[in-house]
Amino acid sequence: MTLNPQVKNVLDSLKNPSKHEMKEALSKINMPIDEMEPFLQSSSGKPYYRKLLYKSEDVELLVMNWSDLECAPHDHGDSHGWIHVLNGTSLNSVYEIKSDRLPKELFKEYHHQGHLFYAPQKGVHKMQADGARGLVTLHLYSPPISGMKVYDLEKCAACVVSDDCGAWWPEEQRQKIKEIQLTKQEDGSHAS
Ligand SMILES: [Fe+2]
Repeated sequence: MTLNPQVKNVLDSLKNPSKHEMKEALSKINMPIDEMEPFLQSSSGKPYYRKLLYKSEDVELLVMNWSDLECAPHDHGDSHGWIHVLNGTSLNSVYEIKSDRLPKELFKEYHHQGHLFYAPQKGVHKMQADGARGLVTLHLYSPPISGMKVYDLEKCAACVVSDDCGAWWPEEQRQKIKEIQLTKQEDGSHAS
């Protein structure tokens, strides 16, 4: 799929954009869901299928087509960004994170079709589709995500994953850049 010239112009103009500039840019990108649907492949047993639509030194734009699986809690490396719900409803869980400790869920929130929500730098979250209507989300990040950290709460571990991996525990060894054992957060008794 090729981006239309107006969308490309909007994205080309973003140089180290602020939170506000990114929201404005993503709001301007009007990509009707029915035009995108032919390009949205199956998630093949993963939480979502991801397609990179645009990448510069400063930003990347990805569309994600969700299955009924939730993704793993994750951060976005050193990037921040905005997520636009193009279709369906997203259930977003937000976590508190302290250095090498297990993330602790703070709250969940629903984002319906048309809504945009912010993913702050170093913020940890997980997403899933709510209900049967297919969730499709458009993500604008700055800079392009590198060094995303994915959490496995049962394993009490984190993994820095390669840039082609989504927000799930990597199956391939080459996608595991660094594994980190975490300590539980309830109290200090397990920490030493
Ligand atoms: Fe995310």
